Amino acid sequence: MEESVITNYEYENDNLIDNTIRPETIDEYIGQTDVKENIKVFVSAAKMRKEALDHVLLYGPPGLGKTTLAFIIAHELGTNIKTASGPSIEKPGDLAAILSSLEPGDVLFIDEIHRMPRYIEEILYPAMEDFSLDIIVGSEGNSRNIKIDLPPFTLVGATTRAGDLSSPLRDRFGIINKLQFYTIDELTDIVKRTARVLDMTIDEEAAVELAMRSRGTPRIANRLFKRVRDFAMVEGDGNIDLAITEKALNKLKVDKNGLDNTDRELLMSIIDKFNGGPVGIEAISSSIGEEVTTIEDVYEPYLLQIGLLKRTSRGRVVTDKAYEVLGIPNKKNKAKGEQTTLDLD
Ligand SMILES: Nc1ncnc2c1ncn2[C@@H]1O[C@H](COP(=O)(O)OP(=O)(O)OP(=O)(O)O)[C@@H](O)[C@H]1O
Ligand SMILES: [Mg+2]
Repeated sequence: MEESVITNYEYENDNLIDNTIRPETIDEYIGQTDVKENIKVFVSAAKMRKEALDHVLLYGPPGLGKTTLAFIIAHELGTNIKTASGPSIEKPGDLAAILSSLEPGDVLFIDEIHRMPRYIEEILYPAMEDFSLDIIVGSEGNSRNIKIDLPPFTLVGATTRAGDLSSPLRDRFGIINKLQFYTIDELTDIVKRTARVLDMTIDEEAAVELAMRSRGTPRIANRLFKRVRDFAMVEGDGNIDLAITEKALNKLKVDKNGLDNTDRELLMSIIDKFNGGPVGIEAISSSIGEEVTTIEDVYEPYLLQIGLLKRTSRGRVVTDKAYEVLGIPNKKNKAKGEQTTLDLD
């Protein structure tokens, strides 16, 4: 078996703290209420029938808890989880090795599943559908197809780009869930939970402040929490209060709306260089030096969500709210802009 393909959950995270603060059970998982309720029902039903849970696709922007949820699903099912990531599966044999190592009911988690090569994907189709592995053995000229039965298993796929998944693959997932950005209340709970797990005390207003500046994203909330905690330990008395939180966050250049330098740069470049838009994503990309996919997957979703950016048929447009938030005068002719741009969302 190719060890490199099956990534160990421990190595996937930057450090041990991340493992400690990652919720393990579905009840510890905060927010995503609809997704959670559905998964609870489907998991219970699968357990009652003593069957493997149907295949699950989780999609949404980075850091919203897809990997966490995959582990929770295995935990709730009471099964093992094997993990792999789309780009790391290079040869059909890699996938065959993983599949044939599964035990009945196991979860196979494939992260970044949209980056799996198509010829690998095709091995997954019969595996997902009939739990069978069709492989070619033998050397050229003397090869034959063999069919191996696999135990029933659950594939949990995660992706930031559901649109990049081929439709035959997408169609084979019985359960498809989109993860949403978290509300301030939910992020506040996440921050308080993280503080508890790490044995720190945090004031309510400080937790809310952290939540507001976390771009709707638990990973960012936890990352900021760790930095604020450093300030509280070195410069304060250990308790995390609002003053120390604001000080730390300002030092980290995260503003009141959770925007970081790149978010601001993106909006400013549309305003300065493209008169507020509409402008194509490629032009934005070369203007700020970020990949198109990074803009689309990481930056844009939150800016669209909080209404600072709009997608139109002719490109991206900054909204009036963006001018307001950035504190710069809006020189655009609003009436004209609104007439000529077609809202696609
Ligand atoms: N619902 C939640 N409740 C509490 N903590 C959460 C929740 N979702 C995520 N987290 C925390 O946020 C961190 C990031 O989550 P996770 O790694 O699961 O995101 P992801 O969606 O897989 O991101 P990526 O797309 O980058 O792989 C986790 O380490 C976990 O501690
Ligand atoms: Mg992940």
